[in-house]
Amino acid sequence: MVPVNKDFVNNMFSVEGKVALVTGATGALGSVLAKAYGYAGAKVFMTGRNEAKLKALEEECKAEGIECAYGVADPAKEEDVDALIKAAVAKYGEINILAVCHGYNKPQNILDQSVADWQYIMDADCKSVYVVCKYVAQQMVDQGKGGKMVVVTSQRSKRGMAGYTGYCTSKGGADLMVSSMACDLTAKYGINVNSICPTVFRSELTEWMFDPESAVYQNFLKREPIGRLAEPDDFVGFALFLSSEASKYMTGGNYDCSGGYLTC
Ligand SMILES: NC(=O)c1ccc[n+]([C@@H]2O[C@H](COP(=O)([O-])OP(=O)(O)OC[C@H]3O[C@@H](n4cnc5c(N)ncnc54)[C@H](OP(=O)(O)O)[C@@H]3O)[C@@H](O)[C@H]2O)c1
Repeated sequence: MVPVNKDFVNNMFSVEGKVALVTGATGALGSVLAKAYGYAGAKVFMTGRNEAKLKALEEECKAEGIECAYGVADPAKEEDVDALIKAAVAKYGEINILAVCHGYNKPQNILDQSVADWQYIMDADCKSVYVVCKYVAQQMVDQGKGGKMVVVTSQRSKRGMAGYTGYCTSKGGADLMVSSMACDLTAKYGINVNSICPTVFRSELTEWMFDPESAVYQNFLKREPIGRLAEPDDFVGFALFLSSEASKYMTGGNYDCSGGYLTC
């Protein structure tokens, strides 16, 4: 019988001392995950396009004793991402964890949507994932120590919705990209790549859905056995798990984290 190693069990959820790069760090989930990695002892390099928000988040995190820095970048722009990775490595020496938390949507019926608007969503939610993961993967390969990539997509990656030909297509593409990247990167380079697929959680954009009296909220609850919509911190445990050695045999997965949305 192969024994289980005690040190492994005691430390398997740890990300202490790791360097985590968080995209969309200015957003609801990205800011929470950036802090969570920091509370767990990781050094956090945060990115987004909005420098004022990044600066404010950096100050907030530093006040909490978190080791962190930021770099401004548009995740869909190759030259931005190239510079971002170089800045993160110049600051912390390496990148061990990537959490992809940026995203965008502008729901529109396909009949009203311009091709340019559709392309914008595809670039923001799909091309950007490719660019960021490609550059981080190369950095992790060069380091020769493996790594963990966690991409936040959506339950909309698996099912359509009116007005969502851009969002569903890009999130579906991102989920398949995650599975394909695992085939390229895990066995040979020790880089685990997984995605988390949430339903609605609280953010500036979704706040309006959280009125318990509203029809939208009530309709959601019919599909949520957990009995409520999500808060950003509901995803912290799973993201840390996928970033740690505890998930060492998981790769290429698109994991439901939706309060049971798929069960009824
Ligand atoms: N909230 C939900 O209910 C929900 C449900 C399922 C899945 N998701 C997904 O989960 C992830 C995080 O969601 P969230 O609610 O935390 O998002 P959020 O609060 O709206 O923030 C996302 C961040 O993405 C960046 N962003 C916005 N437009 C962009 C664009 N065109 N190109 C590149 N970056 C852009 C913004 O940062 P900068 O302006 O600084 O670049 C923003 O702070 C997203 O991928 C989202 O699609 C959200």
